[in-house]
Amino acid sequence: MTAQLIDGAALALEKINQLKQSVTKLQARGVTPGLATVLVGDDPASRIYIRNKARACAQAGVNSIHHDVPASATEREVLDLVTRLNNERAVHGIIVQLPLPRHLDAQRLSQAIAVEKDVDGFNWLNLGALVEGAPGITPCTPRAAMAMLDHAHVPIEGRHAVVVGRSTIVGKPAALLLIARGATVTVCNSRTPDLGAVTRQADILIVATGKAHLITRGMVKPGAAVIDVGINRLASGKLAGDVAFDEVKDVAGWITPVPGGVGPMTVAMLVENTVDAAARSAT
Ligand code: GUN
Repeated sequence: MTAQLIDGAALALEKINQLKQSVTKLQARGVTPGLATVLVGDDPASRIYIRNKARACAQAGVNSIHHDVPASATEREVLDLVTRLNNERAVHGIIVQLPLPRHLDAQRLSQAIAVEKDVDGFNWLNLGALVEGAPGITPCTPRAAMAMLDHAHVPIEGRHAVVVGRSTIVGKPAALLLIARGATVTVCNSRTPDLGAVTRQADILIVATGKAHLITRGMVKPGAAVIDVGINRLASGKLAGDVAFDEVKDVAGWITPVPGGVGPMTVAMLVENTVDAAARSAT
């Protein structure tokens, strides 16, 4: 292995400990940050993510209040719950876990969350602020990727960053954050013809496609920083990233593992967005 490992689990723990101090200060002012989580249905992966989010909140001293909603709920019922949470003073952040059952409109539900409580950063006002470089709440996963690059002191300004994936949750906001830091950014996707020809130009490669082992050794420039956002369950039951870690680790300069990479850091960023939202509500 030549690459330096960027240990997301360790970094997340450090972040959570810092946040705990901020929470203590807020509590002295009478505010305990609160995160409301909403899970519609019983997707097993979503349940694990929600559990991890609740655990991280508890470690930081943030209240998390979970709402289980049956898969048979109507959109009106879920919207009413979101409206109720929008109006609850003790709730500073709200997330509706995705994916949602097919009969519910994820976009409408995400947009129903009050902009100041939208700790996922999916509200169009927050996404618009990101385009403009104005203050707002930034989506957790791309923030996690940037925090990991910064922790490893990976230079960004003037470098070529390639983002593989174009989702609103990861790919597009990651590209915007990199642009804001002065990188030259190329956005492609798993179907880009000769993807390797593009990824081989990357000084920074961020991969978020949901395709296990899409990025192989020959697709990575020697010395590049490789941030793997994918979490895929293999037929064997093992978790794998979008990057073939075992081979890419020998050419990359930095690499994030799966599990234990971007995932835990994303959760820490959600806690941070919640603590920040609580602090803003207290001023
Ligand atoms: N499902 C997978 N990732 C996310 C996320 O970041 N936020 C929400 N709400 N659901 C998700």
